[in-house]
Amino acid sequence: MLAMEPIGYIRTGKHLKFAALHQPEESAEETHVLEMVPGRGYEDGLRDLAGFTRIWLLWWFHKNTSWRPMVLPPRGPAIRRGVFATRSPHRPNPLGITPVQLRRIDRLLLHLGPCDLVEGTPIFDIKPYIPAYDSFPNEKAGGIDSLDAALAAPPAFLVSLSPLAHAQALWLRHTWDIDFQPRLTQLLSRDPSPHRTRRIKRTPDGQLAISCGAWRATFALHNASVQVLRLEPGFPLRFLHRPGREAVPDLAAQLAFLARWPETPSDPPPPLLADAPQMVEESPNRPT
Ligand SMILES: C[S@@+](CC[C@H](N)C(=O)[O-])C[C@H]1O[C@@H](n2cnc3c(N)ncnc32)[C@H](O)[C@@H]1O
Repeated sequence: MLAMEPIGYIRTGKHLKFAALHQPEESAEETHVLEMVPGRGYEDGLRDLAGFTRIWLLWWFHKNTSWRPMVLPPRGPAIRRGVFATRSPHRPNPLGITPVQLRRIDRLLLHLGPCDLVEGTPIFDIKPYIPAYDSFPNEKAGGIDSLDAALAAPPAFLVSLSPLAHAQALWLRHTWDIDFQPRLTQLLSRDPSPHRTRRIKRTPDGQLAISCGAWRATFALHNASVQVLRLEPGFPLRFLHRPGREAVPDLAAQLAFLARWPETPSDPPPPLLADAPQMVEESPNRPT
């Protein structure tokens, strides 16, 4: 038995797994704080680290309880891959590694740039990122190389918005400063087919719907064109109204949206969020 204890915990404010990026996006304007555990002499352990502009975090996927030998990566065709050929959180020893920008150190607080960790993730180690040792840009990256090449090609599907979806997107942008349309268009223009980890699913009434962060869009697919029919919150009203939902992203906006465009009994929200593996424990609609 090997014993390890966290040296710190990260504060990202991202309570739900889908709120965290799959890998850090360098251009994101984010600052996160790693709080080191006090009373362990880590002040000395952090000496000299400020000279590095990037560090490796080694951490625990503490929100996962299971692993699978074959996993379905969120990008690319719906093909299962061996877990060790992926960065999936569902691993036998759920260890994550992330290179993050180190912006500043205040005693036991490390101010970091964009990262892909959820709030409260335990950190087990920090190492300096050393470009000369850690960067090998010419190595082959298996299926990721072909995925990146496919992403560089022009999108295969043309995405448009219905008048309703357009009005909803404008309202979200102007009233709440929420804009997931670029991400939605990017995902649907590449491949709108049902995909578990991309959170695209056929709804009970035969339409297609995609979850995008805390929101969802229902769309129609005709040959190479996708029409987004309507937007809606990712969580049903009965879930949002329960106490203790403060951590739900865009909670106030979701409630206001449902006041403006109420759910209809004939159109219950499909349990899409439940289907994303990273959402399992947060799901209000987990199928039994
Ligand atoms: C694809 S993994 C990659 C992690 C790391 N960069 C790596 O390569 O090992 C990133 C995803 O892990 C999930 N995640 C982040 N923190 C987690 C945690 N503490 N427990 C479980 N899942 C977590 C989020 O959904 C995030 O999108």
